[in-house]
Amino acid sequence: MAAAARLELDDIQGLVARGYSALKSACFLLLTVNDPVAARPALGRLALLATNGSAEPPESALNLAFTSDGLRRLGLDPGEPDGFSHEFVSGMTDPNRSRLLGDVGENAPSHWCWGGPESPPVHVLALLYARDEGCLDRLESDVRQDALTGGGLTEAVRLGTSPLTDREPFGFRDGISQPLVEGLSKAATGDGTVKAGEFVLGYANEYGLLTDRPLLPAACDTFGLLPRAPDGGAADFGRNGSYLVFRQLRQDVAGFHRYLEEATRRPDGAADPEAHEALAARMMGRWPSGAPLVHAPLRDDPSLGSDNDFGYFATDPDGLSCPLGAHVRRANPRDSLDPQPGSAQSVSIGRRHRILRRGRAYGDDNGDGDRGLHFLCLGANISRQFEFIQHTWLNNAHFNGLYDGPDPVVAARQDHDATFTVQARPVRTRYRDLPQFVSVQGGAYFFLPGLQALRYLCEDARSGGHR
Ligand code: HEM
Repeated sequence: MAAAARLELDDIQGLVARGYSALKSACFLLLTVNDPVAARPALGRLALLATNGSAEPPESALNLAFTSDGLRRLGLDPGEPDGFSHEFVSGMTDPNRSRLLGDVGENAPSHWCWGGPESPPVHVLALLYARDEGCLDRLESDVRQDALTGGGLTEAVRLGTSPLTDREPFGFRDGISQPLVEGLSKAATGDGTVKAGEFVLGYANEYGLLTDRPLLPAACDTFGLLPRAPDGGAADFGRNGSYLVFRQLRQDVAGFHRYLEEATRRPDGAADPEAHEALAARMMGRWPSGAPLVHAPLRDDPSLGSDNDFGYFATDPDGLSCPLGAHVRRANPRDSLDPQPGSAQSVSIGRRHRILRRGRAYGDDNGDGDRGLHFLCLGANISRQFEFIQHTWLNNAHFNGLYDGPDPVVAARQDHDATFTVQARPVRTRYRDLPQFVSVQGGAYFFLPGLQALRYLCEDARSGGHR
């Protein structure tokens, strides 16, 4: 077996290496570049605070990412260097992408609170994480002092989060299943691991190739701030970077539970809390504790809450334990992919469609305000990873041999009726006209550069080649 890639963790931003689970408080600042000349030194000050991936930060962490418009405003035209992906350059709100992602109707960017055509432009994303709220306040005030005082940058939106717990707002344990990344995850060995190049640019991916990444002519980097590409000496702006997908997903928590209660009433009209929980679990593919339905088909079993060691094809090909259309079964079909479900090839195809999820919930469960998930995920190829999962698996009514069943929990209900089918013998149960439980409130594609590339971007004295 080839040696695992040695990742340059001191140049990779920390969010790629870890979800900062010890840093329970977080907020996200979306910034607009008003004046690039004043914005660059402000970002340069922030770049000095940026957290790398080499060690778990005990107190706080800061990471920085840029939209393609943001890079352009800062003088680096993402259409110009070879290798920024098309989807990043055209952006999440490009009309073709909106159709692909299901961002139509009430989910259309024109309705978004941020990132859409009606809201202030988003150029920079500052991701702030801290041990507690007091520590977050201090970090935020430092960031504001460094970034927002010189007039180069203004705040478009501040997105708060709820203190991190292991539950998402519908009540399910989240953050259980993540890809084991070669060279990153301690437990990552052998067949279960995904190549680092699937998540970090500049390393071999699951095809044994380097994922396309932005390279600049060496002349653009006269001060030698960027690493050089191994082949030909181009300045490697992409190395150690990753793409970050950000979607603010509002969850209609009351509507979700209202639907479940109605759909599971007993014949005498009384509510049936057990059936309510079981239907929710069948939609998700895991019980609230996290226990997977393939191993706990009938009732929750908290002792299996962290269980992630299962496939579907070998144990449950017909969806009798975990319905074929359940959220986790779509989001990662594991051993069930064509052309040969159950084979090693099927598992290896699945490794090309993984994402590192880094979401945080927002809103609180006591008030009437909005609640949901700031869905964040990382990958080296937005189209093959996030967009593929969203379009071909979650939103696809024909997934897995179904014909009218998009993801029962998270998919937009576009122009067709959504049905959720619970396979069973002798008769399946069909839940028709599912309401929409999750709606998109904002979003954008970002690039999370390596730290050397970050400094290059903020450096006033770099060559004028891309101004
Ligand atoms: C508000 C919307 C969403 C909610 C409430 C939600 C909830 C969950 C929950 C409870 C799990 C199981 C826990 C775990 O395995 O960590 C999960 C897993 C997962 N979700 Fe979501 N999710 C949402 C949106 C999305 C979206 C938009 C995507 C991708 C486009 C996605 C991709 C995944 C993936 C890849 C897994 C892991 C599946 C596995 O490996 O078994 N989720 N989600």
